[in-house]
Amino acid sequence: MTDSINTKKIPKHIAITMDGNGRWAKEKGKSRMFGHNNGVKAVRDTVEGAVEYGIQYLTLFAFSTENWKRPKMEIDALMSLLVSSIHDETKTLIKNNIRLKVIGNILQLPKKCQKKLDECMLLTKDNTGMTLTLALSYSGKWELLNAIKNIIKDKRTEKEISEELFQQYLTTKNVPDPELLIRTSGEHRISNFMLWQIAYSELYFTDKKWPDFRRNDLKNAIINFQTRERRFGKTYTK
Ligand code: FPP
Repeated sequence: MTDSINTKKIPKHIAITMDGNGRWAKEKGKSRMFGHNNGVKAVRDTVEGAVEYGIQYLTLFAFSTENWKRPKMEIDALMSLLVSSIHDETKTLIKNNIRLKVIGNILQLPKKCQKKLDECMLLTKDNTGMTLTLALSYSGKWELLNAIKNIIKDKRTEKEISEELFQQYLTTKNVPDPELLIRTSGEHRISNFMLWQIAYSELYFTDKKWPDFRRNDLKNAIINFQTRERRFGKTYTK
């Protein structure tokens, strides 16, 4: 494998399931929150790396619909961490021309969290560099059901339904589907993430747990992606 990225074959959109914070902390005899706190460092470095490598869209699965089943203490601490991280990073997002976007059932998040996210999205809305999307209180099944409900509300007819129209009802409307989906921590599952959008994504799994993930790991994933032959159901081309 080469150790440099082919700048002509950069994926437009990379999605990441950040997994393994809890196990990473447990290995060190620390609390799960120690893992999440260190996960923020990985987020920072990965976002900077994505900008450096010319990624246009980076989507991070930060909190799933299923994560609401965790103990209240962990949920509260995670929400506080989200608020403080957004607060601390907004200036950097502006400086780096990054636009923040959020997908998921945002109304389920604590008010304080919604307010901080809204503020940051407003301050970064005109940025033209990378779009950083945080998936919060998000699940692919929730998104699909939500789309169907809105299609019915809008009284769309059977004839009107097409892939293009359906896409317009997804939270990722106007965002290209991810060409690459990365999952950390050695788990080989989709776990209800972007079920429609990953139809043809290349999947990349690494044993590294999220707090240890850095821009160099992102680089390795991109280089690996560049070796794949993407056929989209067609026959072999070489
Ligand atoms: C998965 O590890 C991680 C999460 C559910 C939370 C991710 C949150 C962060 C990285 C920090 C805040 C995020 C932002 C965007 C500032 P896990 O808890 O499922 O780990 P485990 O599988 O080892 O238990």
